[in-house]
This record gives sequence, structure tokens and C-alpha cells, in this order.
Amino acid sequence: MISAAPLPEQRDARRVVPNMIAVASGKGGVGKTCLAITLAHALARRGARILLFDGDLGLANVDIQLGLMPRQDLGAVVAGQLPLAAAALAVEAGFDVIAGRSGCGRLAAAPPARIDALANELAETAAGYDHVLVDLGAGLEPTVRRLAAQAGRCFVVTTDEPTALTDAYAFLKVARYDRTASEMAVLVNMATSHCAGEKTYGALLRACEAFLQLSPRLLGVVRRDPRVREAIRCQAALLTRFPTCDAAVDVEAIAASLPAARR
Ligand SMILES: Nc1ncnc2c1ncn2[C@@H]1O[C@H](COP(=O)(O)OP(=O)(O)O)[C@@H](O)[C@H]1O
Ligand SMILES: [Mg+2]
Repeated sequence: MISAAPLPEQRDARRVVPNMIAVASGKGGVGKTCLAITLAHALARRGARILLFDGDLGLANVDIQLGLMPRQDLGAVVAGQLPLAAAALAVEAGFDVIAGRSGCGRLAAAPPARIDALANELAETAAGYDHVLVDLGAGLEPTVRRLAAQAGRCFVVTTDEPTALTDAYAFLKVARYDRTASEMAVLVNMATSHCAGEKTYGALLRACEAFLQLSPRLLGVVRRDPRVREAIRCQAALLTRFPTCDAAVDVEAIAASLPAARR
């Protein structure tokens, strides 16, 4: 049974950041991080100023997937040693990254007030960018919900696996209770074909319409592609390493379809 109790801080005058995109899923391992990186890269290639924020606080891996060695990360920000904007690192792919720190208990267990301050600082930092992508952690913990709730758009990633679909539904249910104004869209990853991906989306949509009175749109379908794993194994950006592979082409199409940021 999924509890959809509102966040305790829901009544706060929390700012919604129109140019912030949360990449969420519920379930881990569905491809959030590699899609967030590739989408950031694709948008940057189209000339947009992009910040990718690693919101998987205790199990960060944007830096690992990109082979970065950040000198500054969120650990120092949460410890109060560094302003958030100073932790942004310009990467070769043409966008900025604020890296987390994997295995950092202090980050994973940061108190709500600290997460709130971090989210507020992120909202301010967003003013300097066209889009801020937030790669969220798995699960429905308060930190995930807090970061998702301030994003103007939320992309919910799923695959065709029943567990991924159930968790995507759970995320949408909880997000609906947290704040309904955010634009929700579904991204089907690791699909065997575009047609199969659309069917997966259809199954999720039917459940959302029947039980949540919610109709998230289909953002796009990204096909299963062995090049994704290959790029991650060599810690290279997919669009740099395999710019014409199926998954790269699909993410580029999604980037091209996004309306311009409303800052
Ligand atoms: N389109 C895809 N095709 C094939 N494998 C993929 C695809 N997207 C993601 N993967 C694989 O899924 C794994 C998990 O991806 P990751 O981005 O770490 O997921 P999450 O952030 O949701 O936990 C990666 O190791 C990658 O190899
Ligand atoms: Mg991840």
C-alpha cells in the first residue's frame, strides 16, 4: 500500500522553478542517470545553457558515468563549506554538473531543513541557466519528493517491467498529492521498439486515468541499446562516444521536442 500523505512542508511558500526538470522513476536501474546526462548533453548541443544536478544524494553517480573527478561536490555544500553555485563544474560535453558524493552518509541523511536550504539555493542557481536537470534518486523519500515538487516539469522514467511500471505509478500518485501543478511526462526506456514503448506507456496511462484522474503525456521512447552500457563502461558521454546509435537518436529527438524553457 502506497501512502500518499502530503509532505509536511507542503504548505510552505515553496517556489516552483519553471526551468527545472526532475528526472524521476520510483525504481532504480531504469536509466534515470544516463538519460539525464544524455538529455543534458543533447540540450547543450542545441545551444541551451544546462546545469545537471545530481539529486541522488547518497548514491550519486553522474560523476562516475561521465568519468569526472570533481574537486567540489554537494558534500561540501551540505557541510556549509561552499555555496551551491561554486560546486558547478563545466564538463567537456558543454554543460555544468553539480556532483553528489557517493556513500556520503551526511548527504543521504541530511535533515529536512538542510535539504530545503539546498533546494532553495538550487532554485536561485537555476536563474543562470536555460534548463536545470535534476537526476533524482530512486524511491519516494522526502528528499526525492522535495526536489521533484519544485521542478516545473517532471519526467518519470519507466521500462516495460511490472516493477518499474508499479513504481512509476507510485511516484506519479505521490507527486500528484505533493503538487499537482508540475507538468508530468513519461519516458519509456529500454524499449524493444518505439511501438512496444508506446504500448508500455499506454498501460501506465490507463492506470493513471482510472485511479488518479491523471493523464501524463508521453515524452518519448528510448530503445534498448547495448551502446549505452558500453559508453558507461568507458565513462564516456553517449552522444560523444556513439552519437548515431539508437538510444542517442531517441534522446536527441526528445530534446528537439521540448518546448523552450520558461525562465
Ligand atoms: N536505453 C538503454 N539501453 C540499454 N541499457 C540501458 C539503457 N538505459 C540504461 N541502460 C542500462 O541501465 C543501467 C542503469 O542505468 P542508470 O542510469 O544507472 O539507472 P538509474 O539512474 O535509474 O538507477 C545502466 O548501467 C545502463 O547500462
Ligand atoms: Mg541513478
